Amino acid sequence: MKLKRRVSILGSTGTIGTNALRIVDQFPSQFEVIALTAGKNGDLIREQIRKYWPKFVSVQEEDLAESLLKEFPGIEVASGDTGLSLAASHDEAQVVVMGIVGFAALAPTISAIRAGKDIALANKESLVVAGSLVKEELSRSKSRCIPVDSEHNALYQLLAGRDRKEIATVVLTASGGPLLRRPELPLEEVTPEIAIAHPNWKMGPKISVDSATLMNKGLELIEACYLFDLPSSKIEVWVHPQSIVHGAIWLEDNSCLAQLSTPDMRSSIGFAMAYPQRLAGPIPKLTFKEMAKLEFYEPDEVRFPALKLARQALESGPSHLICLNAANEIAVDSFLKGRLNFPGIVRVVRQALDLHTSTRVTTLEDVFHLDESARAATQSLLN
Ligand SMILES: NC(=O)c1ccc[n+]([C@@H]2O[C@H](COP(=O)([O-])OP(=O)(O)OC[C@H]3O[C@@H](n4cnc5c(N)ncnc54)[C@H](OP(=O)(O)O)[C@@H]3O)[C@@H](O)[C@H]2O)c1
Repeated sequence: MKLKRRVSILGSTGTIGTNALRIVDQFPSQFEVIALTAGKNGDLIREQIRKYWPKFVSVQEEDLAESLLKEFPGIEVASGDTGLSLAASHDEAQVVVMGIVGFAALAPTISAIRAGKDIALANKESLVVAGSLVKEELSRSKSRCIPVDSEHNALYQLLAGRDRKEIATVVLTASGGPLLRRPELPLEEVTPEIAIAHPNWKMGPKISVDSATLMNKGLELIEACYLFDLPSSKIEVWVHPQSIVHGAIWLEDNSCLAQLSTPDMRSSIGFAMAYPQRLAGPIPKLTFKEMAKLEFYEPDEVRFPALKLARQALESGPSHLICLNAANEIAVDSFLKGRLNFPGIVRVVRQALDLHTSTRVTTLEDVFHLDESARAATQSLLN
């Protein structure tokens, strides 16, 4: 009998985390939950503890951790950054699903790599802010990093075992988000409700807003450069509203290979959790009827300038990427709280980048320090 893969799921109360748990539910003989971490959602983490009985749980705040400890005496409970790092490096875990949103995922990602765990990496912000450093850590570890972002997961599958000299370009597809079919809607009138109503994917609020501004594709472009050692000039972005073709590669002989599936995150999450095995039917099979109409458009970089901004930050160097990410996280949060209008998000990010002075980034401490100062600078712009 095959042994179960033992998983730690960081961000188990989020969209990626709950989908990872759906994979566990579908394949109970293949996975065992070792650790779960939540931010603030006490009700859902309680429900998850009762269902999966993990050995270790971590939450953001100490108060919630203390309550959980009393309610579930047999389970080890921790909180804050320490708790995340302990969950990511838990002795019994083999694979870590990194489903935390934002910069907060960087430290536990590093802990998982240093502990030699395989990582099913959904979080993209950690690669945007520290791509080279994360790759250096990976090169010194037995840890494998399998991307969960559907586009990168597609490219990971398409590029496996292929000589890079054969690759002409790679293609990241973008759904276009909720505003694609609404050219008449002035961007000033886009509310958080409109921005997070994604047509194809049910995702957390931050990535949904990033999809609406196209910043998500900018972050993904940067993520792809680091993951696959590619210059941004070799990465094409095409808007594809059906979200069926997740990624494609053009070879030197002008052949194109693509990865297609029903738009369901369990496909790439299951791939990464089970790697190198493949799960039998984690999602419904796509039919050729559903593939009858596939549309592709060039992104509208005038209405949505975030993609260009991300390319420019990438060319300007790593400290600009830290600034881009921090300013975007702060601006999106302000938009979601009703303190900034929709076009204000990219405007604030641009202003933060304009004010940023290029700085050398050689250590993780540099990354944490620059992130903090970029957040403070963006906050004063907003004030
Ligand atoms: N959703 C998708 O389909 C998708 C696709 C590709 C890539 N991704 C990437 O995956 C990541 C997660 O996205 P998501 O949509 O799943 O986000 P989400 O639904 O907002 O979930 C985020 C998770 O992180 C936890 N969290 C937030 N801040 C935290 C902190 N400071 N410390 C500890 N935990 C914290 C949340 O806990 P609480 O809810 O308990 O507060 C929640 O469990 C993002 O980087 C996103 O870009 C997502």
